[in-house]
Amino acid sequence: MSRNITPLEPVQVAKPFFPAEDIDWITREIRSVLESGMLMQGKWVGAFEEAFAEYCGTRFARSVNSGLSALIGCLSYFDVREREVLVPTNTFLASANAVHWAGGRPVFVDIDPGTLLIDIRDLERRITDRTAGLVLVHGNGLIPPDLEEIVALCRARGLFVLEDAAHAAGSSQRGRRAGSLGEAAAFSMLATKIITSGGEGGMVTTDDEALADRITSLRFHGEDKTRGIQDRIGWSWRMTEIQAIAGLAQVRRLDQIVDLRMRVAARYDDAFGRLERVRPLPLPAGARNAYYKYPLWLAPPLDRQQVKVRLDAEFGVKSGTAYWPPCHLQPAYRDAFGHREGDYPAAEGALAQTIALPIHCDLTDEEIERVIAAVTAVCGF
Ligand SMILES: Cc1ncc(COP(=O)(O)O)c(C=O)c1O
Repeated sequence: MSRNITPLEPVQVAKPFFPAEDIDWITREIRSVLESGMLMQGKWVGAFEEAFAEYCGTRFARSVNSGLSALIGCLSYFDVREREVLVPTNTFLASANAVHWAGGRPVFVDIDPGTLLIDIRDLERRITDRTAGLVLVHGNGLIPPDLEEIVALCRARGLFVLEDAAHAAGSSQRGRRAGSLGEAAAFSMLATKIITSGGEGGMVTTDDEALADRITSLRFHGEDKTRGIQDRIGWSWRMTEIQAIAGLAQVRRLDQIVDLRMRVAARYDDAFGRLERVRPLPLPAGARNAYYKYPLWLAPPLDRQQVKVRLDAEFGVKSGTAYWPPCHLQPAYRDAFGHREGDYPAAEGALAQTIALPIHCDLTDEEIERVIAAVTAVCGF
């Protein structure tokens, strides 16, 4: 006789956090915006930008339609045309694609396998007289523990530091928040990110007024509003009022969101710290990590792909990577840039053995325990 087995509800890797009271507030305000007919670049976009700048501790924040646009806007302000820009190889391709679209050439940099963040020694080795700056990715939400050394090195060599803070809204190091650590920062407000302006969106933060003005111009076709003329060829990158309402509700929750995510991570850290064959990311003293992802390194002979399949099939636990393959081995960059396997050994070695576990604010105790039990069963022998 066959038994009916109820399949487990899958534990999702990512989910945005919209408590019921926020949904009520957002829908009420969206209704009033729709009734008013003022759908673009109005009071809500202004309020969201103001709240975001205040949160990050910068003079300016300018909203755009995506994290990619935020990156391209900053890179075109820094004028990277025909120049090289350093990018860690373990990032989402957008960090490199933005350099391409701004007219520059991404030069990938290897990582520190312990933190999965850019390796300052490899960074220094790859600086040439063609290098314009660095896209500093706070991978998985973690701000590099050697941030000050990285920024000092770039300053000494005349390079800009553009934070790619797509993973790191709300992350900080010794009280300094992502978004305020370089010349400018780009955030993504995509649905899976720490906060979202309703599914899509982006933000630039900076203390540089000319850069902020450039983003305002680029996002509106290159128009200079004060003079009423178009003095450069721009884009159409605006955020809508409806998106800004959702974004504002989220930024007001950002501290709580980071607390909740860090609480999940602490439970994982505690459980996985007892297992011999896995290693979580470190949480350096004085750091708050928004944990866009929770990466877990698996000691060989554990096989990343087999572990992912078993977590899903046997426990309903979804997982991702942090990232695989690294950018230099992606077809879009591999051949065109003459890269091959072995070029970035630390990144290749670490990322081939790394999975990313579910982390978001709505994970229940049962789900967290299920993830821990699943990893313990599959990797804890
Ligand atoms: C590190 C990183 N940079 C940039 C982006 C681009 O953001 P968006 O998808 O909003 O353009 C993303 C995510 O998509 C990302 O993970």
